[in-house]
Amino acid sequence: MASISYGLEGNVVVVTGGSRGIGLDLARTLLAEGARVVICGRKQAGLDAAAAELDGGDRLLAIPAHVAREADVDRLFDQTVAHFGRVDALVNNVGMNLITGVVDAEPALFSKIVDSNLTGTWLCSRKAAQLMREQKAGRIVSITSIAARRAAPFMGIYGIAKAAIEMMTRTLAQELAPFNVQVNAVAPCMVRTGFSQPFWSNDDLLKEIVRAIPMGRIAETVDVVHPVLFLCSPGAGFITGQILMVDGGASAV
Ligand SMILES: NC(=O)c1ccc[n+]([C@@H]2O[C@H](COP(=O)([O-])OP(=O)(O)OC[C@H]3O[C@@H](n4cnc5c(N)ncnc54)[C@H](OP(=O)(O)O)[C@@H]3O)[C@@H](O)[C@H]2O)c1
Repeated sequence: MASISYGLEGNVVVVTGGSRGIGLDLARTLLAEGARVVICGRKQAGLDAAAAELDGGDRLLAIPAHVAREADVDRLFDQTVAHFGRVDALVNNVGMNLITGVVDAEPALFSKIVDSNLTGTWLCSRKAAQLMREQKAGRIVSITSIAARRAAPFMGIYGIAKAAIEMMTRTLAQELAPFNVQVNAVAPCMVRTGFSQPFWSNDDLLKEIVRAIPMGRIAETVDVVHPVLFLCSPGAGFITGQILMVDGGASAV
């Protein structure tokens, strides 16, 4: 892809779950843009490997944090502000699914999926919004999923949580508009990462999935990274409360 500049040089961007997949590619692209980047993840080993690969020097912080734990989220943002002085953008990238039906799930499993996807997005957005409200500037972009709008087998609780993030996006957009803070989301179809590997690595399953995507392929991480960067950029300054579908046309048909 030809290089595109989003005007994010010097911006401080927190990317939750930046140790692999979409978040890692996002961190890489932000660093190339000249941004200062904070990534988090639960596992130190994953963060160490990502930090070594990203080689971001003093423009990169990698902080172990579980987004559904309030103390971890407080520490994530406190360390970010102590180190970089501000937070210009938050990308709520963390998401996870455990294969289960909605009816057969035990309450503990339901809570686990909802906590990581929804509660984590809320805790991080809340903390970032408190800082951004003071700054009178900021961007929050969450990564939801086409599963928020289409019921999919074994992904029901995940879809319920992602649908709630869509509503959170609109609600926060309204609450934060007077403070010059814009809140949006990007909703991809299947993206080629470790998260979705059990689906795309099966040729028959992949053919079936691709049949529902007019552009005839699943997304690559780069397809998600650029819409997120656009929504963080000055060019998106009058866009708020929107969910941008990144799905090769799947939701249009
Ligand atoms: N891949 C797809 O097909 C697809 C499609 C639509 C939407 N999405 C969404 O896109 C986002 C990124 O997905 P991905 O495919 O890049 O996922 P991924 O490859 O599984 O990466 C997930 C990242 O999040 C971190 N993480 C997971 N749970 C966490 C938690 N509770 N607290 C902190 N960090 C946590 C992981 O590190 P640790 O394991 O070390 O915590 C890792 O860095 C998710 O929101 C996902 O729902 C993905």
